[in-house]
Amino acid sequence: MAPYPGCVQIRPMTLEDTPAVEELTAEAFHEHDVRTRPADWPVPHLRSASQAELRAARLRHLVARDPAGCWVAIDSEGAVVGAAAALLRDGLWGLSTYAVHPGVQARGIGKQLFRAALSYAPEGPGLICSSHDPRAVRRYRLGGFDIHPAMLMWGKVDRSTLPRLPHGREGGPNDIEFMDGIDREARGAGHGEDHEVMLSQFRLKIVETPRSRAYVYIRAEGGPYLLAATDEAAARKALWASLAESDAETPIDSHSITGHQAWAIDVGLAAGMQLHNRGYVATRAMAAPAPYIPSGHFL
Ligand SMILES: CC(C)(COP(=O)(O)OP(=O)(O)OC[C@H]1O[C@@H](n2cnc3c(N)ncnc32)[C@H](O)[C@@H]1OP(=O)(O)O)[C@@H](O)C(=O)NCCC(=O)NCCS
Repeated sequence: MAPYPGCVQIRPMTLEDTPAVEELTAEAFHEHDVRTRPADWPVPHLRSASQAELRAARLRHLVARDPAGCWVAIDSEGAVVGAAAALLRDGLWGLSTYAVHPGVQARGIGKQLFRAALSYAPEGPGLICSSHDPRAVRRYRLGGFDIHPAMLMWGKVDRSTLPRLPHGREGGPNDIEFMDGIDREARGAGHGEDHEVMLSQFRLKIVETPRSRAYVYIRAEGGPYLLAATDEAAARKALWASLAESDAETPIDSHSITGHQAWAIDVGLAAGMQLHNRGYVATRAMAAPAPYIPSGHFL
């Protein structure tokens, strides 16, 4: 396809841009999901207003905390036509948001945005939960990332499979330091103040046994938003704790599971969920985190 005919300016994202960026990413991912949906998968829906507000709050946090990682592409009319938002925590770079408006994709805008976001940390550990868009994964590989094909677990949790969980407890703000310690063991970097945002948006369960520790942020419908553990035994318990929060009638999903997370696949299959392959986890200068399930936004 020809390069974008209008003049596109790449500039730092501001807080005022965030509503337009939220709308743009909703459209771009919806269009992508509709266009590439396997015929036997449920019809994709646009984000609800409440989901959009949660995402917008996470984006505002990044613009305030990581201004050098957040960029927009602006067309000659002043409209936001693309965005990328990256974070940097304890030396770990992560790509949190990346999309170009469906009408102007594949014209070089995404390449410029990715370059800008990557300039926030041109070297060192990096982590991306990639969609299955071949244009995205091309960018990541050409940018020096290792590409790990990923799986998605989907379905209703069979209540009869749920184990008794004697080691689980509710978590809260006093657990941030504790969780950063687990993050460092699992992926080499804490989430720091991202925990404050996650605490405001998700339920938190902590698993502590004499030998191991784990935490899991749980989505409203159940299932893990982000899970980190010091070993697989604790990770399994935390994943079960998140599945137990779903109800019998609502299918839930869990993304970004690579072949390194066989423990998660085993739990999902035991709970009666289906396994599909979808997307990638891309890493730079680090192994794919294993007793771990990343969040697409805070990774
Ligand atoms: C991924 C995305 C942000 C890339 O932005 P973009 O402006 O479309 O990308 P660019 O035009 O800069 O780059 C696309 C690259 O893929 C190549 N490409 C174009 N069409 C392609 C196709 N159908 N299959 C494979 N590669 C393709 C282009 O040649 C280009 O590579 P090059 O620059 O090395 O030649 C954008 O396509 C998008 O929003 N996709 C939907 C949302 C999404 O999946 N986001 C990624 C989240 S992880």
